[in-house]
Amino acid sequence: MGGIFFLGRVGAGKVCHLAHLGASINGASTFVKILLTADLHSQRHFYDWVVLNASRYDLVAVAGDLLDIFARDQGGQIDFLRSTWFPAMTATGVPLAISSGNHDGSAIVWLSHIDRPGSVVGDGSTQLITARSGERLIVTTCPYYRSFRQDDPVMIDLWEKGAALRDSEKAPWLVLHHEPPAGLIPPGTITMHWLNLRLREYGADFVSCGHFHEGGEPIFAQKVENAWCFNAGQQIYAPVPNHIILNTAERTATRVDITSTPDLLLVEEQTEINLD
Ligand SMILES: [Fe+2]
Repeated sequence: MGGIFFLGRVGAGKVCHLAHLGASINGASTFVKILLTADLHSQRHFYDWVVLNASRYDLVAVAGDLLDIFARDQGGQIDFLRSTWFPAMTATGVPLAISSGNHDGSAIVWLSHIDRPGSVVGDGSTQLITARSGERLIVTTCPYYRSFRQDDPVMIDLWEKGAALRDSEKAPWLVLHHEPPAGLIPPGTITMHWLNLRLREYGADFVSCGHFHEGGEPIFAQKVENAWCFNAGQQIYAPVPNHIILNTAERTATRVDITSTPDLLLVEEQTEINLD
């Protein structure tokens, strides 16, 4: 099921203000409704949007590339996240999960130190999160820099802990891993990590990725080794970030994609798939 919504006209230096994207399923019951996004790349209006909309969800998940490695002032980017965005985000009371990406080298230490059991799944952590509904979810966040060695002991420990929790708690398992698995990458690209092997060995229910900004085309979701893997794609000059609304109760995933057309209209396209 899909839908296209024309949102407004954009002129030079001017964008329309959007606050209620994704509202089409807001009337649905909330068990575990998860906001999946990635590649926010220090776009402050993206971060503002995440805080503004967090209360609609049981978990907010950002799968890497919070920073923009090509922009100046890496310290300023981190300061914004640390002193402005993170306090605002935690004040919402909505659990947060973050994994690092290839742009996040200078924030690696901070991203792991924000780990707070039960409320913030920092980079390189496996936790059991309880949603407001009482539903539980296992969340594992994979550090980008530990993706490339098959025998990385920290990565192996994260996956083993997740698999053990899945077996003991009988709860669904979400993994954040910046680069998508083979099977969900754009044509002509390759992967150099071990995600496919981990999925084959340990299993997981859902994997949220990013990295390929065009990754939402032509598909944003693919079942790989029995795990539903997602990449919303990203357009960093759009007024709101591309994102996916994962509803584990209704077994649906809705990708919200913002594009601009040749006539300068902004278009919100919502595409919903059933995960059964
Ligand atoms: Fe990336």
